[in-house]
Amino acid sequence: MSQGWLFLRHFMRSPVSIGSVMPSSRYLVAAMVHRVDWQQANVVIELGAGTGVITQEINDLRRRDSMFLSFEYEDSMRADLTQRFPDVGFYKDAFLLKEKMADLPRGEGADCIISGLPFANFSPLQRDQLLADIHQVLNPGGLFVAFQYTRQLQPFLVSSFDEFNSQKVWANFPPAFVYLCRKAPSEARCSGVSNA
Ligand SMILES: C[S@@+](CC[C@H](N)C(=O)[O-])C[C@H]1O[C@@H](n2cnc3c(N)ncnc32)[C@H](O)[C@@H]1O
Repeated sequence: MSQGWLFLRHFMRSPVSIGSVMPSSRYLVAAMVHRVDWQQANVVIELGAGTGVITQEINDLRRRDSMFLSFEYEDSMRADLTQRFPDVGFYKDAFLLKEKMADLPRGEGADCIISGLPFANFSPLQRDQLLADIHQVLNPGGLFVAFQYTRQLQPFLVSSFDEFNSQKVWANFPPAFVYLCRKAPSEARCSGVSNA
């Protein structure tokens, strides 16, 4: 079964949790990853991997010695991803992000968090908690990149992050906003947006 059909089948079973009828287009995938400075990223996180179109791109671009953790709630999707990407650490619930990061052997923070999560389908409490956790686990200068189909999340991102940019990707169904958010850099460490 193609990834598109697999995705649609999951959407019909749990539309709220999946949040989209098909995987992201290659244009959206490219917009999600192209501002990351992959050479500087030691710890990379993905939230809401789905059938893995963005996972694949991240895995191709990341440094081989980087650590890549990815969260996907649906068990069968996660099982498939685990087989396809044996070097990636897969976890179920993005709401356990802070807990899973705390388990890392050297207590590292994340340099980059890339999200396909359907934030619009979370309660305001869940949304605020997860955004706070994302901001907390990011290293100074770290990036949070998220796509959304509406502008609903924008004010919360603007107020949570120190730098904010958005881009609309029309070549996707439905067209999506890509939000690029950066935590303020500190003198000690700076990873983040390339100038490309
Ligand atoms: C809009 S889809 C995006 C899938 C993929 N990243 C893409 O771009 O095609 C959202 C994904 O987030 C997952 N998801 C929803 N809630 C989640 C949660 N609490 N933790 C982890 N994944 C979640 C869904 O199962 C779904 O696969």
